[in-house]
Amino acid sequence: MGIETKFQVKARAKEYPIFLGTDLLRKTGMILRKEGLTGKALVVTNSKLSGLYLKPLVGSLEQAGFSHQVVIIPDGEEYKSLAQVEKVYDAAAAFRLERSSLLIALGGGVIGDLTGFAASTYLRGVKFIQIPTTLLAQVDSSVGGKVGVNHREGKNLIGAFYQPAMVITDLKVLDTLEGREFKSGLAEIIKAGLIGDPDLFRYLLTQSEKVKKRSTNALLEIIRKACLFKAQVVEEDEFELGRRAILNYGHTIGHALEVETGYGVYRHGEAVAIGMAGAALIGELVGISRPGVWEQTMELLKLYGLPVEIPGIPAERLFGRMALDKKVKKGEIRWVLTPKLGEAVIKDKLPPEIILEALCRMGAIGGGLSS
Ligand SMILES: NC(=O)c1ccc[n+]([C@@H]2O[C@H](COP(=O)([O-])OP(=O)(O)OC[C@H]3O[C@@H](n4cnc5c(N)ncnc54)[C@H](O)[C@@H]3O)[C@@H](O)[C@H]2O)c1
Repeated sequence: MGIETKFQVKARAKEYPIFLGTDLLRKTGMILRKEGLTGKALVVTNSKLSGLYLKPLVGSLEQAGFSHQVVIIPDGEEYKSLAQVEKVYDAAAAFRLERSSLLIALGGGVIGDLTGFAASTYLRGVKFIQIPTTLLAQVDSSVGGKVGVNHREGKNLIGAFYQPAMVITDLKVLDTLEGREFKSGLAEIIKAGLIGDPDLFRYLLTQSEKVKKRSTNALLEIIRKACLFKAQVVEEDEFELGRRAILNYGHTIGHALEVETGYGVYRHGEAVAIGMAGAALIGELVGISRPGVWEQTMELLKLYGLPVEIPGIPAERLFGRMALDKKVKKGEIRWVLTPKLGEAVIKDKLPPEIILEALCRMGAIGGGLSS
């Protein structure tokens, strides 16, 4: 018997459930049927996950009477591309997928984003089911409806807002997730605690041993809380016109670092962890954060072995990268800061000297601002 919980996410166009528990892969077909879904199912996964989890999923689809086919994408961020989406379209056309048919993503954020984009565009929209298999995908990319692929000019340049019909999150798949990937996902959960859920923050602080050991109960608790927090923010601002931007906490520095180091050096969550350490320090330096917020942020990030330092990159170069970010508005870099734990505000027009000071205190190479 597995543990199981279900909660709803509300988006403008529809409301959909997230099933969270153990042993759900083998129950997927039954869950889909219970929710009234029938017909054809095209599963999209990658070359690594197909060996690990395709069999129980396909078995459960068969048992529940779904006719199904599978598309296998090579493993890696570089395959989050239009060329691979076309492969999904080809399979969908050959399988004669209809609007009521299902496109099922079995994988991490790469497979989820790519499959979701294919689902949003094929026949102007078929039913999209997410089965996220990384911690990051379970708490972040599978919630909120952003789908898309990369373009040679930038990450996630092509995409849509397209909500899934359902998310099925099986905690057991995390058993095979590499330590670094697990930690990267934890960074997004820590982010949710820092900007929106003080209970989650306290839980992460006091139950770190259980979390690090991937205890089922601990995972259930933190994944549920992080999903609920993100879902609530998305409910308020589905198309990122306002409050949803707080989810970019840690991303201003984090994204600049990813671009500067050419991706591949840091996992996304690691770069965000450094970015959160930086944002907390900036909050303290500009006097927006209460005393102690920076120290507690650092304590939590270090507790989970996440990086909090900037490698020897010129501070000014990183600052320049931030100004080029696609999220910059009217030339102003936007900062998400935490006045207290569990609360976030968005600020722009912060003094560049303070940003540079914070970057240097974190390990970047100083040198002053050139005009
Ligand atoms: N849509 C959104 O809102 C959103 C939010 C955040 C990130 N993203 C996107 O998500 C992507 C990153 O996702 P990710 O971190 O999940 O990376 P990923 O999908 O590349 O997965 C990371 C690695 O883990 C492997 N893996 C996945 N599940 C596994 C499991 N259970 N056991 C063993 N190995 C497993 C994958 O094959 C891959 O090698 C990026 O493309 C990013 O842009 C999207």
